[in-house]
Amino acid sequence: MRKLTLKSNTYSGKLIVFEGTDGAGKTTMIGLTRQLLEEKYGEEQVVSVKQPTDMSRKTKLFQKMMYSRNHEEIDYRAVQLLTMSDRVQHCFETVVPALKKGKKVICDRYIFTSLANMLARGYREEDWFFDVAKHLIQPNITFLAYVDPELAIRRIKGRPSESDRYLDENLLRNVAKEFKDMAIEQNFEIIDTSQDSQSAFAAVKKRLEKEGLI
Ligand SMILES: Nc1ncnc2c1ncn2[C@@H]1O[C@H](COP(=O)(O)OP(=O)(O)O)[C@@H](O)[C@H]1O
Ligand SMILES: [Mg+2]
Repeated sequence: MRKLTLKSNTYSGKLIVFEGTDGAGKTTMIGLTRQLLEEKYGEEQVVSVKQPTDMSRKTKLFQKMMYSRNHEEIDYRAVQLLTMSDRVQHCFETVVPALKKGKKVICDRYIFTSLANMLARGYREEDWFFDVAKHLIQPNITFLAYVDPELAIRRIKGRPSESDRYLDENLLRNVAKEFKDMAIEQNFEIIDTSQDSQSAFAAVKKRLEKEGLI
């Protein structure tokens, strides 16, 4: 398989990404990270964003993927093109301008989510994906929030806001495996989010310290 090579961040700001399956604990870690960075740098200097954005999330195709069981009606390449377009534009209009101003950008999910989902669905020969990804900025740190998929599934089922969501449990297990498999090549900092939030966050802090961010 081709290596995912992104564009290096030549700006003064830092890009911090959180990846992981649904229910892994990304939002929880992001909340704590944001708070810590805002205390140090001030609210103005910290930008917290989410990918994909509503530009792709609000489309019929994305909604069908999220809420319908008829996945045999979806060519997943179409979803990938949609979210890739979203990521490229979001990078251009939001991430890069903030990095140019020296801001700390925290991103909830990034291109690795697309890659893990694509591989988990068995699409393993998509050269075009790697060609387009070259236009995205390489994060300074990518945290992978990781819990056993069974725990992630239990957490998702415990969230009232997601009761109408179609959850493909087997896909989630495969996505978790793909994230773990790409951890070394993509230099992920794996955070064991099966621990309580504060213990898990201690590992995030340690890495932020190492990067000179706190
Ligand atoms: N470290 C943790 N320990 C225990 N429960 C957690 C932890 N992190 C998150 N949770 C709980 O698990 C659920 C999913 O967490 P969330 O941060 O929303 O995950 P994600 O954003 O990855 O889907 C939430 O109900 C949250 O309260
Ligand atoms: Mg979340």
